[in-house]
Amino acid sequence: MKKTIIAPSILAANFAYLDREIKKIVAGGAQYLHFDVMDGHFVPNISFGVPILNSIKGKYPLLNDVHLMISEPGKYVEAFAKNGADIINFHYEALANDVERWALIEKIQRLNVKVGMTIKPKTNVKVLLPFIEQLHLVLIMSVEPGFGGQGFIPSSLEKVATLRKYIDEHKFKTLIEIDGGINDVTGALAKKAGADILVAGSYLFSSRSIKKRIAGLIND
Ligand code: DX5
Ligand code: ZN
Repeated sequence: MKKTIIAPSILAANFAYLDREIKKIVAGGAQYLHFDVMDGHFVPNISFGVPILNSIKGKYPLLNDVHLMISEPGKYVEAFAKNGADIINFHYEALANDVERWALIEKIQRLNVKVGMTIKPKTNVKVLLPFIEQLHLVLIMSVEPGFGGQGFIPSSLEKVATLRKYIDEHKFKTLIEIDGGINDVTGALAKKAGADILVAGSYLFSSRSIKKRIAGLIND
């Protein structure tokens, strides 16, 4: 049985004490650091970018899982790759057609960074199927991208189950990541549906015991 990967989203962390906050998720057993980049155009919020990523590059035993919620992601992947991204996942909806999507997948692979593709809640999961074999992960948004602390959208579980079946039938190695509104209850449902990676922001960083909550997400 594969061990669930926990990817805490630092969007919910206290940036005045970022080093301390990241050390807590490392101690808690997280394997990824989920880095939510927002441009105020693709999503109605602005978060952070390359300078913050560069300041944490190589400092922690975590894979930097960069979630680009930005328009024209192709313009920025090189900068994120050079400044510490281990995984870059871009939104299906940020590109106009599959020719552009294939080109960006290849561009990220040429940068020696793992690549993921992400879909919003209203996007049909079937659009991901042609790309899956080439992807390190597929990211299912279980909230509308743009903000932490939102409520989990239950229909996301059907997308996870569809992907689980497809990936297992084809014996692909692609990981399924789910992102948004993950807590002890929704995390257990997501794992049951077949998710490999759980992104959690507010559930972890609002807690006095991140370690206990990460252990709960992995084991429950
Ligand atoms: C939302 C981000 C999510 C979010 C998760 O656009 O992609 O990663 O930060 O935060 P919670 O876990 O609080 O929903
Ligand atoms: Zn995210």
